[in-house]
Amino acid sequence: MSNGRERWASKMGFILAAVGSAVGLGNIWRFSYVTGESGGAAFLLIYVLCIFLVGLPVLIAEFSIGRRGQADAVGAFNNIAPGKPWIIGGILGVLTSFLILSFYGVIAGWVVYFLYSYLTGAAGAVEEGGYADFFVNFIGGSTGPVFWQFLFMAIVIGIVFFGVKKGIELSNRIFMPLLAIILIVLAGYSLTLDGAGEGLSFLFTPDWSAFGEPSVYAAAVGQAFFTLSLGMGAMITYSSYLPKDTKLPSAAGNVVVLDTLFAIIAGIVIFPAVFTFAVEPDAGPALIFIVLPEVFNQMGTGGTVFAILFFFLVAIAALSSAISLLEVSVSYVMRQMNMNRRKATLLAGIVVTLFGIPSALSQGGPLSEFTLFGLPFLDLIDTITDQYTLPLGGMVIALFVGWGWNKVDALKETGLTDTTIGTVWLWFIRLIAPAGIAWILLLNLFS
Ligand code: PHE
Ligand code: NA
Repeated sequence: MSNGRERWASKMGFILAAVGSAVGLGNIWRFSYVTGESGGAAFLLIYVLCIFLVGLPVLIAEFSIGRRGQADAVGAFNNIAPGKPWIIGGILGVLTSFLILSFYGVIAGWVVYFLYSYLTGAAGAVEEGGYADFFVNFIGGSTGPVFWQFLFMAIVIGIVFFGVKKGIELSNRIFMPLLAIILIVLAGYSLTLDGAGEGLSFLFTPDWSAFGEPSVYAAAVGQAFFTLSLGMGAMITYSSYLPKDTKLPSAAGNVVVLDTLFAIIAGIVIFPAVFTFAVEPDAGPALIFIVLPEVFNQMGTGGTVFAILFFFLVAIAALSSAISLLEVSVSYVMRQMNMNRRKATLLAGIVVTLFGIPSALSQGGPLSEFTLFGLPFLDLIDTITDQYTLPLGGMVIALFVGWGWNKVDALKETGLTDTTIGTVWLWFIRLIAPAGIAWILLLNLFS
């Protein structure tokens, strides 16, 4: 199929980009606070099960749709099943990735602000116990959060502007291995702390009563989708730049294993530190922004180095994820509005950045009184996507590949014809994944 579509330079380039999309704020900021709030090890176990039972089969499904469809998230459905309602899966994807990027850029902006503040020495100079104020003053400002969101988004737009090979692939080639090295070094450091034993047992020794909590399962499925970049067209879009001969299941296996390792290693960085300095693990979304700076502060001069490495690493991880989120809209706009990449990037990038402003100003800033369904704007968008449109998009994708697409074609596309794995995969996306997701959607709707 030589349709003039951009291509990854190599299979490795594609895997790196997919891993870059997966590994992000979800593994570090979101994984640590959700794990902390959901009780630690029991959540981790259910989460890992969701990753392999629901996440992996859906990821293979998204890769197949993208490679076969050879188009953006909406166009791919249309190419495979013209005129069928399955296209809703693509539309949900474009919508969800747009919404997520609008607040993802805000939180990534906070990360860049912390990096900057540690580099200038401002964050290092805060008194012990003063980081809650430091953080709250920053996110409650009327210009700061918007400035840092804009700065982060400008970098994202700049990279997507240069296209799949030059921009995305090159940046991931440099960033991903660097990220892995820095994270492992940080984890090694954390393991020498006094609270290492307690932190590790929080993370790895389950409290069995938590298995009876439905909310833990809902949190685990939501986190699995978010962390693997599923249900929003990102993986469909990336795999549409693949040539025919790439083995999809092994690529998906790589992404899933690496993403899970990054999350667990991030947990090994964070929880020993949390317990060493007697901080509550269920501190919520502020965990890495308030608690860790307190921890870094107590470490003296070495703490600033630790902090700079940490926020640098989180910023880089957020960057490659945000790139993939923007690429979903850019790819859609290019086809739908018949624009070239540069115009489409500027259009989609600017619109999504502007749409993020109300989120940036909603966390104690001028728009914090403006709530819908009792939620500030950022929380509202987060809830809509994480609890509803993401799982729904994932379900449509699984059902489409499992039932809507003819079985022979679906298996041929994944290269799993006549294999046991192929049969198992097919039944996972036909039944197990949709049933699990449907259960979670109902839970979220009625609780
Ligand atoms: N998976 C990314 C993370 O863990 C977030 C993301 C979601 C990126 C959806 C792209 C698409 O941070
Ligand atoms: Na992730």
